[in-house]
Amino acid sequence: MKTETTVQGLAASLNPTRQARKLIGFVPTMGNLHEGHLNLVREARKLCDVVVVSIFVNPIQFGPNEDFENYPRTLVQDSQLLADAGCDILFAPSVEQMYGTQPRLTNITVGGMANDLCGASRQGHFDGVAVVVTKLFNMVQPNYAFFGEKDYQQVAVIRQLVQDLNIPLEIIAVPIVRADDGLALSSRNGYLTETQRSIAPSIYQNLQQAQQALQQGQALNDVLETIKTNLIQAGFEIDYVEARTPQLSAVNQFEQDTMLFVAAKLGTTRLIDNLFVKYMG
Ligand code: PAF
Repeated sequence: MKTETTVQGLAASLNPTRQARKLIGFVPTMGNLHEGHLNLVREARKLCDVVVVSIFVNPIQFGPNEDFENYPRTLVQDSQLLADAGCDILFAPSVEQMYGTQPRLTNITVGGMANDLCGASRQGHFDGVAVVVTKLFNMVQPNYAFFGEKDYQQVAVIRQLVQDLNIPLEIIAVPIVRADDGLALSSRNGYLTETQRSIAPSIYQNLQQAQQALQQGQALNDVLETIKTNLIQAGFEIDYVEARTPQLSAVNQFEQDTMLFVAAKLGTTRLIDNLFVKYMG
């Protein structure tokens, strides 16, 4: 595996691949890799000739009171995991390499569903994601880019961005990878104390119970309220518990396929999860 830290180095490494018209798969990450990320790399490996992974903790997608400074940076360990998982090129630029030294005057705002759910409580977050992902897409110019469905709304925002700006690549969404107890894998799980870690799987347990309750005919509003009550009792501070269509439109009743979304804090750690609920008619 090659590691590149500059845009020029990355271009030089990718040149032979582009000239040979081989397929480039791209997995953007912020590092501190876990099985969820490695699964994206393996999916990319199946479909593409060359797999590029970026590790970049993007300052502009963090709010002023969020965890940018503390976000775990574990490049040496990550490099080893990526080499083992079949990554060909690791791109790990500095903030200066990514954003230059002059002020950035261009912004990218995805409207509509980007203002909802996480977009409502993390002002500017998806603008920051849209900017960095667009820059990374321009640098790597992949044929396919792979994203995890734990960040379901992020995938929807990036799909919209790609469609609206005619970015010539295909987005592949990969299902959530969970720990044995059901907790969706996330780099932020590492912030949890032992006690919090033992409580955290109740998000998924509640989503599963809600799925069952909906399919058995319980009213959507009651099901969402039950999740909230249970999570508050377990020690969470709720950000949102919501239902949407798979395209993220509003849902008032369970009368079509529905996505359930939870964002909740345990102490200072914000966790998100989601579950698809099939409408059986
Ligand atoms: O999902 C992430 O890790 C980040 O939001 C991404 C897509 C790498 C952009 O910084």
